[in-house]
Amino acid sequence: MQLVKEYAHLKEEDLLGRIHRAKEELGDSLIILGHHYQRNEVIQFADFCGDSLDLARRAAEQKKARHIVVCGVRFMAETAAVVCGEEQVVLTPNLKAGCPLADFAQLDDVKQAWEELQEADVGSLVPVAYVNSAVVIKAFCAQNGGISCTSANAKVIVGWGLKQGKVFFMPDENLGINAARECGLSQDKVVLWEPGKTLGGNEIEELRRAEMIVWRGHCYVHSSFAFADVERVRVKDPKAKVIVHPECPPAVVEAADGSASTSQILRIVEEAPPGTSFAVGTEVNVVERLNSEYPDKEVFPLKRSVCEDMAKIDPPGLLHILESLVAGTPVNVVHLSPEVRKWGALPISRMLYVKARR
Ligand code: 13P
Ligand code: SF4
Repeated sequence: MQLVKEYAHLKEEDLLGRIHRAKEELGDSLIILGHHYQRNEVIQFADFCGDSLDLARRAAEQKKARHIVVCGVRFMAETAAVVCGEEQVVLTPNLKAGCPLADFAQLDDVKQAWEELQEADVGSLVPVAYVNSAVVIKAFCAQNGGISCTSANAKVIVGWGLKQGKVFFMPDENLGINAARECGLSQDKVVLWEPGKTLGGNEIEELRRAEMIVWRGHCYVHSSFAFADVERVRVKDPKAKVIVHPECPPAVVEAADGSASTSQILRIVEEAPPGTSFAVGTEVNVVERLNSEYPDKEVFPLKRSVCEDMAKIDPPGLLHILESLVAGTPVNVVHLSPEVRKWGALPISRMLYVKARR
C-alpha cells in the first residue's frame, strides 16, 4: 500500500519515463493488452489495443510473453488468465477495477435460478454468459453445456443457442434483448429474470413459452443513453450517423443507424469517406480518440458517458506492477483455482471457435 502511495505522488514525466524503462527491461517477456476504454495515458503503453473479444483472442495466442498485463476491468483479466498457458502470469494494474454489470450475476443467485428452472421443467436450457461476467459464472455455464459471447458476436452465439434449446442469457438485459431481436425473436418469446424473486418474477407458463430468458442487469455507462439523445442529434446534426454499443437500451439501438461492438465501431469510422460525421453512443474515451485519429471526419459523443471502473487503471498502477515484475516479486496477479480455470476456459474457447466476426 505504501508503495502504491509513493507511485501516486510521482511527477508525470518521472512516471512515464520509469514505465518506458521497465517495459524495455522486461522486453519480450511482457505484453500489455489495453481495452479501448482506457485513457490515452495508459493506452500509449499497450502493445495491443482491442475490444473484449480481441483481448481474449490475443491472450489466447500469446506464446512468448511470460507476463500478460491487462489494462481493463477484472473480467477481462480473468478471461486472459483462463485462456493463456498455465506457465503464464496475468496481472492487472488495479485489482479493484471491476465491472458493475458483471456484478449483477452472483453465483448463488445464478445457481438458485438454475435449480428453479429445472424444477419448473421449462425445457432444455442453454446458458450463455456474456463475457462481462465473473469467471465463476462462466465456469457454471460450461458445467451446464453453455457458452460465452461478447458484444461483437452476441447475435451469432444467441442464434447458435436458440438452435440447441431455450437460451438463458446473463447478465446484460439490453444486450440480451437486442441480440434476441437481431435473431428475429418476437418480444413475447423473451422474458426477463429478476434475481431474488420466485421464478425470476415470472409465471411458469411464461417461462415454458419463452425461447429466451434474460437476466436483469445493465451497464450504467451504456444504459445512460436515451431515445431523446438520438432525437436531439437528428435535429441538430441530421447528417450524422448514429452508432451505438449493443449494451444500450433497445429503444436507443432501434433508433440508431447501427449498433456495433467497440472494434466494429472503430472499423465503421475508419472505412467511412472523409467528411462523414458520427454520433457515437459508447464510452467517451473511444469516441474522443476516434475524433482525434480521423481529423477528416467528425466523431462526437451521443452523450458524454464515462466508465469510472475502467478509469481505475492509471499510470501509477501500471508502473507499480511493471517494477514489481522487474524486481521479481509480482503484485496484483490474477489467481484462479485449477478447477475454475479449467471450466472457465471452456465457454470462451467454444466462443472463440465460432466464426462470429465479419
Ligand atoms: P466490448 O466487447 O465492445 O469491448 O465491450 C466491453 C464492455 O465492457 C462494454 O461496456
Ligand atoms: Fe462494465 Fe459498463 Fe464499464 Fe463496460 S462500460 S466495463 S460494461 S461498467
